[in-house]
Amino acid sequence: MHKRLNSEAETIEFANEMSARLKPGDVVAISGDLGAGKSVLARAMMRALGVSDTALPSPTYTIIQEYEGRGCRVAHMDWYRLSDESELGAIGVREYFMPPWICLIEWPERAYGLLSGSTIHLNLQCIEGAPEARMLEANDRIWT
Ligand SMILES: Nc1ncnc2c1ncn2[C@@H]1O[C@H](COP(=O)(O)OP(=O)(O)OP(=O)(O)O)[C@@H](O)[C@H]1O
Ligand SMILES: [Mg+2]
Repeated sequence: MHKRLNSEAETIEFANEMSARLKPGDVVAISGDLGAGKSVLARAMMRALGVSDTALPSPTYTIIQEYEGRGCRVAHMDWYRLSDESELGAIGVREYFMPPWICLIEWPERAYGLLSGSTIHLNLQCIEGAPEARMLEANDRIWT
């Protein structure tokens, strides 16, 4: 499905709707160009999931940040700086793909091979001539 988000506020509204459908064990892969709004979307989802405070200390904090949510734990990942998939395998990233975790991943294309078929894929794209607008594409999994 495609949805035009006309402002950052609409992106946050979408994040709220989307988060209400998530349950522990869900993995959300958020792709899109630099500055497309992946972090805006991820942070809004984290707030909607009940994350209120700063990340818990983690040895892998540049790649994975852990948070306490409402009825779940939330892992926010940014794979931008990853060199290859084996780096994530070594961290034991699959631990975060099951309850109690809800996992939000920016730059998932760095290691698509690690993601399962049940991953929820979101893509954000800028729209030429409309600096405040984004095109969101989502796979059907979240609407069924
Ligand atoms: N409709 C919109 N939705 C989301 N962000 C928007 C929108 N319109 C404008 N913006 C702006 O776009 C920027 C998005 O920045 P953000 O850090 O979320 O991008 P990103 O995709 O995470 O980039 P990076 O790949 O560098 O991590 C913010 O400055 C935000 O205010
Ligand atoms: Mg980002």
